[in-house]
Amino acid sequence: MTQEIGVGTLQDWLARKKPVTVLDVRHVEDREQWWIPGSRHVDAYKSLKEGSAGPLLDTSVPPDQPVVTVCGSGRVSLSAAKMLNEKRGIPALSLHGGMKAWSLAWNTASRLFAAVEITQVRRTGKGCLSYLIRSGSAAAVIDPSVDPEVYLSLVSSSRASIRYVLDTHLHADHLSRARRLAEMCGADLILPRQDRLRYPHRHVAGGDNLTLGATSIKVLSTPGHTGESVTYLVPAAGIFSGDTLFLAGVGRPDLHAGGTEAETRARQLFGSLARLVSLDEGLMVFPGHTSEPVPFDGKVLTASIGEVAGRLGGWLASEDAFVARILARIPPAPPNYLVISQLNERGEWPESDPTDLEAGANRCAVS
Ligand SMILES: [Fe+2]
Repeated sequence: MTQEIGVGTLQDWLARKKPVTVLDVRHVEDREQWWIPGSRHVDAYKSLKEGSAGPLLDTSVPPDQPVVTVCGSGRVSLSAAKMLNEKRGIPALSLHGGMKAWSLAWNTASRLFAAVEITQVRRTGKGCLSYLIRSGSAAAVIDPSVDPEVYLSLVSSSRASIRYVLDTHLHADHLSRARRLAEMCGADLILPRQDRLRYPHRHVAGGDNLTLGATSIKVLSTPGHTGESVTYLVPAAGIFSGDTLFLAGVGRPDLHAGGTEAETRARQLFGSLARLVSLDEGLMVFPGHTSEPVPFDGKVLTASIGEVAGRLGGWLASEDAFVARILARIPPAPPNYLVISQLNERGEWPESDPTDLEAGANRCAVS
């Protein structure tokens, strides 16, 4: 009988480096949207829909490790696993729920600084990056995007407790887990000052400073991606730049922007980025997103402000040229961003499966 494998088990195998062949059977154009790190691709989708194994009959797979088939929602991959079993005697497993379910998979990577340990919690199936910052027994979480239990488990293993849960801005690409996490652990729920939020929280603005163990979190006002966006700075470590500054790109300024507002926001973004790249160039940039699936390699996705400024090259040489460049390169709006934003404004969790709303890669960057 063909069996399925759950997202949690496959995530665990990849994290433990267990040898496994992940066989993605989707159309090539679907795979280009997002994929599982290290997976192999064979475009067998049309054949499988027509009831034949097609290219699966002669796809080579290593004989001594499990095979996991993957498609968009876990149905065609089930046919693929059955074909591999029946036609070739390969005991393949199908990823239950497919790439839609995989959007919740995550992994971590950590880096130590003098006063803090920073753990990057990466939603590998969507590219959302969140952070657990620990100094002694005090911890903070920035932009939580995976199940609150993940952060609670990570912090309990280091015998710390979460004092602050912070969002850098009102997210439009994923459902914020900040309110639920703060309620579960009794931490202060902190967001930048704005007039859109409809639930109790503590607001901060540029110039504010939060004490965290032996260090602090300084709030920098960095509008542009959204009007309220802030960056959190941990001295002698790095900046948590949300969707303002990525490792090789900048945040899009257009969501919820009507008329000429996108241009106004692009001009704000220029000023915000100019201030960020003028900070100590040795500070590390910890962005809110990455544009590719995150490997299970334990390597923190980061670069120094000096490196990132170098990658942006001449982007920041002229405000007018920057604005023209940004406005000409804005990607399509993320799916469901209006509904996601409204839920985040109200601090509500959807009654339906959250992956229905959050499906698809993030589209937060202009690069
Ligand atoms: Fe965003």
